[in-house]
Amino acid sequence: MKEIGPAVEFPPGTIRGVDRYAVGNNGAYFAVSRRCRHLSADLAGGSIDADGCLVCPWHRSAYDVRTGRMVRGPQGVFAKIPGLGPLFKGLTKVVPLRRRQVSLQDGDLYLADS
Ligand code: FES
Repeated sequence: MKEIGPAVEFPPGTIRGVDRYAVGNNGAYFAVSRRCRHLSADLAGGSIDADGCLVCPWHRSAYDVRTGRMVRGPQGVFAKIPGLGPLFKGLTKVVPLRRRQVSLQDGDLYLADS
């Protein structure tokens, strides 16, 4: 297990990079691999939307952090490309973001071994 840091530094809505993972709190602590499946933006620089999904900072794809799957494809100019959103959503059914368990012990968060 790897220590992440004090849980008080991860209030709801927080997301941060820890090694190769984007660690956040959308009401529950989560850790997913940091590279967006679209063009590899660092998801640790993203945000959490009203549905608790992790939103990519570049083109606002949204991921369900429980499954690692993209639930909304790239936005902006990319949203106008027919089939692109479904293509990436399909891709993440096969190759979802990697997920790691985050545990809370004595006020500190830990990343479980993979
Ligand atoms: S790099 Fe993430 S949506 Fe484009």
